[in-house]
Amino acid sequence: MEFRCIPQDLASALGAWAGDTLVVGLFASGDSNREDPRRQVLTNLFGGELLGRLEQRQFTAKPGESISIERLGASPQTLILVGLGEAAEFDLAGIRMASAVGARAACAAGAQDLGLCLPTEGLGAGAAARAMAEAVRLSLFQDQRFKSKAEPKALPNQVSLMGLDSAHQACFAAVDATCAGVELARQLVAAPPNVATPQHLADTAAQIAQAYGLELKVLERGDCEALGMGAFLGVAQGSDLPPKFIHLTYRPSGPAQRKVALVGKGLTFDSGGYNLKTAGSQIEMMKYDMGGSAAVLGAARSIAQLQPAGVEVHFIVASCENMINGSAVHPGDIVTASNGKTIEINNTDAEGRLTLADALVYACKLEPDVVVDLATLTGACLIALGEEIAGLWSSSDGLAEALVHAGEAGGEALWRMPLRPSYKQGLKSPVADMKNTGPRPGGSITAALFLQDFVSPNLAWAHLDIAGTVWSDKERGLDPAGATGFGVRTLVQWIEQGAATAT
Ligand code: BES
Ligand code: MN
Ligand code: ZN
Repeated sequence: MEFRCIPQDLASALGAWAGDTLVVGLFASGDSNREDPRRQVLTNLFGGELLGRLEQRQFTAKPGESISIERLGASPQTLILVGLGEAAEFDLAGIRMASAVGARAACAAGAQDLGLCLPTEGLGAGAAARAMAEAVRLSLFQDQRFKSKAEPKALPNQVSLMGLDSAHQACFAAVDATCAGVELARQLVAAPPNVATPQHLADTAAQIAQAYGLELKVLERGDCEALGMGAFLGVAQGSDLPPKFIHLTYRPSGPAQRKVALVGKGLTFDSGGYNLKTAGSQIEMMKYDMGGSAAVLGAARSIAQLQPAGVEVHFIVASCENMINGSAVHPGDIVTASNGKTIEINNTDAEGRLTLADALVYACKLEPDVVVDLATLTGACLIALGEEIAGLWSSSDGLAEALVHAGEAGGEALWRMPLRPSYKQGLKSPVADMKNTGPRPGGSITAALFLQDFVSPNLAWAHLDIAGTVWSDKERGLDPAGATGFGVRTLVQWIEQGAATAT
């Protein structure tokens, strides 16, 4: 799939354009919009019956609505109209949605040479071009690796963004790098737990390292023991699969002004341990409990290809399974993390924070300017924010703001949540320094507070709870049903924007 920009507007572009499928966005058809100049252009191009046909088929141009019109013997042979809603409310999210809806309809119609004509006024043409191209590519992503007979839909060869200056084609390099990272993350999350094992994550890191010349260190169980990672290893000890502690490093060719550490939860399966997940707790979905590590490795894939200047990035994943056998942790066991803190494991199902504790201590030892972790950490976050918004906790207002903006630029929603110190009371243990689980109310907040204990004081740190957003039961926006690859676009945008020069 190749992208290009065609500078002319709809009216003049179409004369010379020989593509087979054209997607045109239309604002909502309330009486006030009767004069929408785009409707006039359509009438001029395709005849007066067109708008009548739209009315007949009750097309009201609501966001997400689309209609395909086949034109036998004419060019373009398929015309797809997509709704943009009210003009005053149209934004970057709207153009993303319209691009995805249009691309899916075009693909269903067998488009080979696709044109997209959407209004970019007021959105910033560069940001709009990037949003459109990412939406087309990501909404058409297919993953049939586990079907014995794959039947992929044919994708368009060429996608032209109409009405955009060819200078904006420069952004397609970033589009390709970003989407490759999102696709990798989706594949990792979608892969079943008998395929996406800790070894598989380490192999994936090795492939990225080899392809792009990144540095890779994989710490085995013995190496982690030597570093005193009793929390991480406690989780891993009930599994027959060896844990892998993955550390991938991107160094820019010139000097680095900023050093960033990205940490991802990498539970390739979470049974809950002896606090076994029960019916209704979605145990069969717990392959996606490595969604944080998928986002981090996906971002590594993107950053390696983009080669941003001035920033050094460390990608860290403490990967294992949370399983049950004769050596698994008992509820009530006390473990010692690599910073010396003792933790009473009062619930073996709060395992993610135990693995992250040692991963965060390791990350802080690298003396980065900023640490960001991503984790499918709590069901409580899913209940609080649903499937479209990730929770964000941060010790730094500047970092929180930069991440929210990066999310907006990439099309991922983050909502800042409080690190309320008094809630730490809930993690008090009578026998150890702390316990791993607090009361059910505010469960995603106590989880974040637990993590904060393993981050160096005064270091800018942010935690993203992506439990709700890594998986989607149905197709939504640019996301197919299934793995979303959530987190990659936020991380890539953030690193591109100078990796939070302001923290
Ligand atoms: N991986 C789960 C969190 C999760 C639950 C993600 C549902 C996505 C959907 C995590 O390890 C977990 O089990 N958390 C517990 C914590 C509790 C025991 C304090 C939870 O959220 O129930
Ligand atoms: Mn769990
Ligand atoms: Zn988990």
